[in-house]
Amino acid sequence: MFGLFKKKQPKRDITFTYEALGVDMHSHVLPGIDDGAQTPEDSIILIKKMMEVGIRKIIATPHIMADYYRNDATSINNALAVLKAELQRQGIDVEVEAAAEHYYDETFESRIDRDELMVIGGKYVLFEFSFISKPPTVFPVIQKIKDKGLQPILAHPERYPYMSLDEYKMLHSWGCLFQLNIISLTGYYGRETKKLAEALIDNHLIDFTSSDMHHPRHAAAFQDALRTTYAEKLLGGEYPLRNSMLL
Ligand SMILES: [Fe+2]
Repeated sequence: MFGLFKKKQPKRDITFTYEALGVDMHSHVLPGIDDGAQTPEDSIILIKKMMEVGIRKIIATPHIMADYYRNDATSINNALAVLKAELQRQGIDVEVEAAAEHYYDETFESRIDRDELMVIGGKYVLFEFSFISKPPTVFPVIQKIKDKGLQPILAHPERYPYMSLDEYKMLHSWGCLFQLNIISLTGYYGRETKKLAEALIDNHLIDFTSSDMHHPRHAAAFQDALRTTYAEKLLGGEYPLRNSMLL
């Protein structure tokens, strides 16, 4: 009940942008192929919001998920072509590429075996776990990706409540990189996710950060994240983020 009387903290001013980051490498801005933008108009709204806060290059990563979004190189490249045509029609000058966010389901390993992964920057494999249950046999899969000469990146590690910081330290030591959704720092996904996001940053476990933008509420949170002290920690120049290597 004391919370009722707690004085609301004034919002910090925005004093920096994503200009130093340059690249957003996790978003769902390709139209009509997953739970992100549904039309090219939706895509443009999100892309303009990213550009307003300093993003110069966007690597769109639609879901590849056996049960829900059966995307492959063809569906993803087709959606990319639709979006690029609309950007050109509207005279919007931004670099857009496409890869994918691979879901760690029973088909993931066979996709690796069959060289069907959609990779970022020629070598990075963005993948996500279930939000509910811990996946079995992670180490051999990480190793399998590395044996292909590719580099695994786990998307939004702060969003899996069944994982501990110690497990993340181990996963990172195996060569799995981590991508933080920067909007987690605003409390967008709740307090526990925010706390884990901050702990991952404090332990120098974050390699990439991005928006994971699906819709305009994410765009608003992406801007709002710039008010947080932890975003300043990540983007201030001291933290060894790798986004700019993808420019
Ligand atoms: Fe995503």
